[in-house]
Amino acid sequence: MQIIFATHNQNKVIELRRIVPKSIKIWSLNDINYHDTIEETGKTLEENAKIKSDFIRKKFGLNCFSDDSGLEIDILGGEPGVMSARYAGPLKNNNANIEKIWKKLRNRRNPKACFRSVFYLHLNKNTYCFEGRIDGKIIFEKRGENGFGYDPIFIPEGYEKTFAELGNDIKNKISHRAKATFKLIDFLVNS
Ligand code: IMP
Repeated sequence: MQIIFATHNQNKVIELRRIVPKSIKIWSLNDINYHDTIEETGKTLEENAKIKSDFIRKKFGLNCFSDDSGLEIDILGGEPGVMSARYAGPLKNNNANIEKIWKKLRNRRNPKACFRSVFYLHLNKNTYCFEGRIDGKIIFEKRGENGFGYDPIFIPEGYEKTFAELGNDIKNKISHRAKATFKLIDFLVNS
């Protein structure tokens, strides 16, 4: 099976290729020479994943999937959510995003949060959605050197370390993205 991953993020593609069986060949947008940005105008992670996948399906008529992920904080009504990358502005500055969250949370104790990841798949004539989620809490200092984004301020449930302290070996087994990815791969392998 050949399928397009509607992303320009080569790291995501490499990560996925490591875990899919060789019978499934994954092409990124760079691989098929499509370099334009697909605007993410959706109000939810699901909408954004669908927008990207629908766009590529319509343009190339091929099987494809896309993903969208974000951090959702209960007491902030699910923010930053779909705005996770651009929470403090279009420059996508991680430190500014974290500062904004801390400012909004002020004195809240152990604010509950989760990371969610959504994959939207076009396979033949059908569409499918897969979700992965990890619950946890936000802390008011940065801890750890690994990972990216909000990893230094997120402690997953059942652990005492942040994602950034736990490192990729553990994170890649328990994260929102890992869970959604395993569901997608499982489905593709059995299709
Ligand atoms: P994307 O949809 O996977 O590109 O994620 C959008 C944004 O959500 C990222 O730029 C990060 O700010 C945040 N995010 C998503 N997944 C993670 C994660 O695993 N750790 C930390 N931040 C994340």
